Amino acid sequence: MNLLIMGPPGAGKGTQAERMVKEMQITHISTGDMFRAAIANGTEMGMKAKEYMDKGALVPDEVVIGMVKDRLQEDDCKEGFLLDGFPRTVEQAVALDETLKDLNINLDAVINIEVPLDKLMARLTGRRVCKSCGASYHVIFNPPAEEGKCNSCGGELYQRDDDNEQSVGTRLNAYMEKTQPLIDYYKEKGILKPINGDQEIDKVLEEVLAAVK
Ligand code: AP5
Ligand code: MG
Ligand code: ZN
Repeated sequence: MNLLIMGPPGAGKGTQAERMVKEMQITHISTGDMFRAAIANGTEMGMKAKEYMDKGALVPDEVVIGMVKDRLQEDDCKEGFLLDGFPRTVEQAVALDETLKDLNINLDAVINIEVPLDKLMARLTGRRVCKSCGASYHVIFNPPAEEGKCNSCGGELYQRDDDNEQSVGTRLNAYMEKTQPLIDYYKEKGILKPINGDQEIDKVLEEVLAAVK
């Protein structure tokens, strides 16, 4: 199954994706995670992306599109994939359509996680992420069993550079201006699955899995 998960920053895309790929045995492709890995490896592309990300701005389309195009052609995508955080602009969505057409791949469904925008700031400023496996936690809503330590791999938890009030404000604006129009784009294609993301993590997962069955 080839899926896409979208929603505003902090909606729970990563949280759900982590659980969905385990359940469905498909490959998780998060463009945000790919950029953070490039930054950690000190690549030129990573350094360029970091300038945009720290501010909360979108990385230019041509950079993201090329990266995803290459990624989709790797072997682990053949059994299915879940794109998380891409596309984020209409240009990216059109490029994705073209790439999938070239590769003879169909998109089965687009999961849209809906959360009232006024709840997102608290989710993001309280988030902690595992340095080793990327799992997302929250100091109040989803705390790890042991403070500062990942439940699944024991890795160290850290706070993302863009999870501060100022960057989150910019990210929310970028979402409303550039990404929200994609909801209609996929609605018109008849593959949009709206999911209530304003409930417990396990309940959201149940809704997601039912929607893609
Ligand atoms: P990216 O890493 O994708 O960030 P984002 O879109 O801002 O989304 P987040 O990862 O912040 O949120 P999420 O929905 O995954 O939430 P999570 O599950 O962690 O992108 C980062 C940057 O990279 C962008 O700003 C941009 O610069 C660049 N970039 C990436 N892709 C790009 C593209 N295609 N084009 C251009 N630039 C791009 O959950 C958040 C918190 O809430 C956690 O603490 C979690 O524990 C908690 N939580 C989750 N679910 C619930 C729940 N149901 N109830 C209560 N708390 C919950
Ligand atoms: Mg994420
Ligand atoms: Zn971990």
